Amino acid sequence: MDYQLDFRIKLWMEEVAERLRESLNQKVEIQEKQGAADLVTEMDRWAETYFVEKITTYYPDHQIIGEEGISDTPVTSTKGITWLIDPIDGTLNYVKEKNHFGIMVGIFEDGVPVAGYIYDVMNHDLYSGIVSEGVFLNNKPLTPIQVDSISSSLVVGNVGNYVENRYNLQAIHHLALGTRSYGAAALEIIAVLRGEVCLYASSGLNPWDFGAGYALCKALGFEVTTFTNEPLNIMEKSPVIFAPKHIHAEALKLLEV
Ligand code: IPD
Ligand code: CA
Ligand code: CA
Ligand code: CA
Repeated sequence: MDYQLDFRIKLWMEEVAERLRESLNQKVEIQEKQGAADLVTEMDRWAETYFVEKITTYYPDHQIIGEEGISDTPVTSTKGITWLIDPIDGTLNYVKEKNHFGIMVGIFEDGVPVAGYIYDVMNHDLYSGIVSEGVFLNNKPLTPIQVDSISSSLVVGNVGNYVENRYNLQAIHHLALGTRSYGAAALEIIAVLRGEVCLYASSGLNPWDFGAGYALCKALGFEVTTFTNEPLNIMEKSPVIFAPKHIHAEALKLLEV
């Protein structure tokens, strides 16, 4: 891992987080994408543009996949370094709650996770992880709370996914002590990293939603796969499970694919 790159990403995320907090007291333009619950704001576009401009200046040969499609260079292969960027994760929370949203950046080399970053903006908390070096919260090592089994733990994920019950997701919900849903994958993945919950499962997550968490979980030695135990493809939307190894094995037995 290039430590100058690690340093730069953290600096850029601090700047974006600061601007997002300031924007909460200002009028921000909001548009619907697929419907009233699927929003994009001028700040989502501003934040992604900020990252794209920095990356193309400092790392012109790197590829960028961002939710808002700001980079106009299409990504057709996973070869080389690819950035997965979610400029605001939890846009609906950002607009409605002015709270509980994140910024996510994942770095991949030849499709394999190298480093991940999740910023919990309103708590001023930056989680960073380099694969094989561990996870850090504001640059201090993070030690997760120990989780023993699904039946003795909480689980987390999008409430709609659990209600729909695709792949028999409700089996996990029924076995666990409780199911939490925070409206932002960023904050839900943080809960897995901290061991507050034992797993995050989604029946369909986009690359910019799983990129940072994929690398952060790998940095802690956790498992991240599809529901058929395959590695994630950073160019495809897919079902995803993030969990410590023993919990991941337990969950896969409950899912039906
Ligand atoms: C969404 C949030 C939500 C998750 C959705 C994502 P966005 O991201 O993370 O919690 O369930 O799948 O699309 O659109 O706010 O970046
Ligand atoms: Ca969105
Ligand atoms: Ca997202
Ligand atoms: Ca987003």
